[in-house]
Amino acid sequence: MLIHLKQLLTPDELAQGHALLTAPDASWRDGRHSAGTQAVGVKQNQQLAQDSATAATLRALVLGALQRDALVLSAALPRKIFNPLFNRYNSHGADHADPHGDHYGAHVDGAVMHSAASGQWVRSDLSCTVFFSDPQDYDGGELVVHGAPGDAAQRIKLPAGDAILYPGTSVHEVTPVTRGTRLASFLWIESMVRSGEQRRLLFEMDMALLALRQRHGESAEATRLTGVYHNLLRQWANT
Ligand code: NI
Repeated sequence: MLIHLKQLLTPDELAQGHALLTAPDASWRDGRHSAGTQAVGVKQNQQLAQDSATAATLRALVLGALQRDALVLSAALPRKIFNPLFNRYNSHGADHADPHGDHYGAHVDGAVMHSAASGQWVRSDLSCTVFFSDPQDYDGGELVVHGAPGDAAQRIKLPAGDAILYPGTSVHEVTPVTRGTRLASFLWIESMVRSGEQRRLLFEMDMALLALRQRHGESAEATRLTGVYHNLLRQWANT
């Protein structure tokens, strides 16, 4: 299940975040330092150093936006959110010599992530990318999420300030940036409901109940179905 979070960031947050990410004193490091053994061979990008005041401000900005978003709560049922990280893909490559541009080839994210900032372990049930560059500012740089065998891959390139939630279990990649610069935040969410199928059912029911109430107002049946939703969540959730 892919969930498009439209305008996750307010225009003010986006402007502030973009200014911090493009400031001359922002400290960018080679992204390969944080890749696992499978991913290191296919990764070419840069990551913002985590130990700066800039990074702390940016983390708080993205976390705040995720925590207030009703769609995130309903679709992800978050138990823990990994501290948001930030990456940069340039069109001319990290060393200004590669004609192919920064990219991150097909890989799977580690199942369990350790956050140096919080000391927490987070299981990566869901992955999230928050876009800080507008699509017209760069060519390429699509997030491609591969589905089950036989399913078409999804190609994602969203307006700045929007975000995508996608399964942490997926094979995915970022295609080479051939013009401009792509700035984004990425993070993982551990859900109270471990099973993606159970999460999908709960999300569908929650959205249908919302639409029912908008169309018909409150009713005894809507109340009963809300009870069913919560009783399912009670069975499936680990807090
Ligand atoms: Ni990844």
